Formats: sequence, structure tokens, C-alpha cells
Amino acid sequence: MGRVENMVAIVTGGASGIGRATAEMLAREGATLVITDVQEGLGEEVTRGIEASGGKAVFKTHDVADEDNWRQVVAETVEGFGGLDILVNNAGIGVFAPVVDMSLEDWRRQRSINLDGVFLGVKHAIPAMAVSGGGSIINISSVAGLRGSPGLTGYNATKGGVRIFSKGVALECAAAGINVRVNSVHPGIIATPIWTKAAVVGKESASNFFPLDEGANAVDVDAMAQVAVPLGVAGSAEEIASGILFLASNESSHMTGSELVIDGGITA
Ligand SMILES: NC(=O)c1ccc[n+]([C@@H]2O[C@H](COP(=O)([O-])OP(=O)(O)OC[C@H]3O[C@@H](n4cnc5c(N)ncnc54)[C@H](O)[C@@H]3O)[C@@H](O)[C@H]2O)c1
Repeated sequence: MGRVENMVAIVTGGASGIGRATAEMLAREGATLVITDVQEGLGEEVTRGIEASGGKAVFKTHDVADEDNWRQVVAETVEGFGGLDILVNNAGIGVFAPVVDMSLEDWRRQRSINLDGVFLGVKHAIPAMAVSGGGSIINISSVAGLRGSPGLTGYNATKGGVRIFSKGVALECAAAGINVRVNSVHPGIIATPIWTKAAVVGKESASNFFPLDEGANAVDVDAMAQVAVPLGVAGSAEEIASGILFLASNESSHMTGSELVIDGGITA
């Protein structure tokens, strides 16, 4: 018997990194996965991998910033699999830029995915979960939602928003007497493709805050982890997925409005 046996789960941003590891782990533990992402090719690859190992998964192309797209994903999940038990709001991007170099357009683009996307997921999942008798929503914040990070202030704003939004929604669900739990997860520095994809705006100033991998126009995650993580290494996507699995399962049935920090000691 898996830890999330027969549950139906949506994982956004499931084509890569933490979302991918989470989808694979939930599937191994018995859940049926609806993997969503804007990266179709990679998303289909993750789905095929899960099916090849005997798990159940489908992929849906999905921009989390688009409300109609959310309506469709939730409706198709309920129609296709009979309900919705778990939502992992994981899709996210990082825009590195000192605040004085950040354009309003970049600020809004990051917010539309990292914060508006979480709002829309929560808004459309709760009614579907309530019909299925309840569920668990896990919103991926960051240590950057707990304390300031120079060079990542726009990201700070979105992740701090995700943290306190999660607590408010948790209390709203509890007060309404619907059995939907809402918790946030706060990863530290985790080795995933986000660091190589991240747009470094105003590079001269950004290098004051981050060790840059010059060739890749990206942050050097291992160099940063050596300095910033007390355990001395970057975390893995699987180490975050383990925490998400716990919050998704009934093992965490008394947890709502909580924040699970998995950061190698960064915030200790
Ligand atoms: N890697 C870290 O160090 C770290 C630390 C703290 C928090 N996080 C958070 O963890 C989450 C996952 O990040 P990751 O490190 O696995 O990065 P990643 O880049 O490997 O994965 C993020 C996924 O989100 C998808 N995505 C981006 N925009 C989207 C959109 N509009 N709609 C749907 N999908 C979209 C991407 O295509 C990608 O597959 C993010 O919310 C990130 O902010 C990561």
C-alpha cells in the first residue's frame, strides 16, 4: 500500500526539477498524476517514464498564469479520474536583478507565475477537493519567502506572498469546515535547472550578489551552496519531494497553515 494510494494529484511545473521529482515520487506511492507544465516535450517524457515504471500519469499543457487554463485542467482531472485529492503548486521562475535594474514587466511576469498562479490553483482546486471529501494543497515557497535575499527582491515578494496566502487559505478552509489542508514548503538552495535558466538582468550588479557561471549566464549553484548552506552542499529535488509527499499524505493530517523548511540549515 503506497503512502498516497488511489489519490489523484496535480503537480504544476512537473516537467523539471522539484516538480518532476515530486510527480515521480507520488506516482511510486500509488497516486494518479496529472503533470502540467509549459514545457510539453519534457512533460511528456516524465509521464512516459512514470508509465514505464508501472505508475499512472497524464500530461497537460498548462500556463499557471492563465485562469481559463486552470478551469480546464481541474475539470479534466475531475472528469478523467473521479476527483482531486492533492495539488502541488510548484511552477515557478526566478528573475535575478537588483531592484533598481528590474523592469516592471519582469516584476509582473515573475509575480504572474509564482503568486497569481498559486492563487488560481487554490481557487479552482478547493471546490473540486471539497466535493471529493477533502484534500491537501502544497504551495512551494522558498527560504526567500522567509527572509530577504539581495538580488532576488521580486522573487522575495512572490514567495513571501505564497507563504502568508497559504496560511490565510488554510484558516478559511478550516473555518468553512471543509477538509482541505494548505501548507507551504520552503526549499533552500536546490540543484535544479532553475539556476541555469534564470534571467540575470543587470549582470554587473548581479555579480555583487551571486557567483555567476560566466559561460552559462547563470548562477553557479554549487559555489553558492558551499558558502551559503551550513550542510555545505546544494539539496536535491528528491529531498524536497520527500517533504511534499509527507504533506500530501494523510500522515500529516493534523498539519494545516504550516511551513515546512528544507534548507540544509540556511535559516537556522
Ligand atoms: N531550485 C531551488 O533552489 C529552489 C529554491 C526554493 C524554491 N524553489 C521553487 O521550487 C519550484 C520549482 O523550481 P525548480 O527549482 O524545480 O525549477 P525548474 O525550472 O527545474 O522547474 C520549474 C518548472 O516550472 C515550469 N513553469 C515555468 N513557468 C510556468 C508557467 N507559466 N506555467 C506552468 N509551468 C511553468 C517550468 O517549465 C519548469 O518545468 C519553484 O516554485 C521555485 O521557485 C526552488
